[in-house]
Amino acid sequence: MKRVLVLHGPNLNLLGTREPGVYGSASLAEVDGQLWEHGRRRGVAVECRQSNLEGQLVTWLQGAEREGFGGVVFNPGAFTHYSIALRDTVAAIRVHVVEVHLSNIHGREEFRRHSVIAAVSRGQISGFGPQSYLLGIDALLATSTSTPSTRRASPRPPRRAGSQRTSVLRSRRSRRSRQ
Ligand code: DQA
Repeated sequence: MKRVLVLHGPNLNLLGTREPGVYGSASLAEVDGQLWEHGRRRGVAVECRQSNLEGQLVTWLQGAEREGFGGVVFNPGAFTHYSIALRDTVAAIRVHVVEVHLSNIHGREEFRRHSVIAAVSRGQISGFGPQSYLLGIDALLATSTSTPSTRRASPRPPRRAGSQRTSVLRSRRSRRSRQ
């Protein structure tokens, strides 16, 4: 993987001044700086974008593969908890998406404990402050050889080795016996 896209959702432009007790004192520019440096050490180019608009995030996710990104680290902000549009986009694209959160959403208010994005993401990292994003990059790099089909929440049971071949042989045999 050569390039990773980091997407920050609504209100993350306010990092540093927004509820520092919950989200920390680092500004978005400082977090992005850590991400670029982390990527540089691992040999990947990291591009960071932020939007308060759901449609803009949909457009960036849809375009990620076309733009040459191998994976996306995504903090959907409050959209995490209710955006079916973003959920559907993550489900539709082939690029792996790791959902990240600065705070531990599972230890906060009831309405934050559910993510509509998590089930269609490659995985979720929550509660490590800016480190969540760095771990998100590492998770993408560690899993980049796996195919997109392995990211579904309920994968099909693995096919028995050689079972497809067996069925091909069987159908050929039955065709021959019909001739
Ligand atoms: C957040 C958690 C969300 O519940 C919240 O709406 C945010 C930030 C986080 O990074 O902890 O905006 O995604």
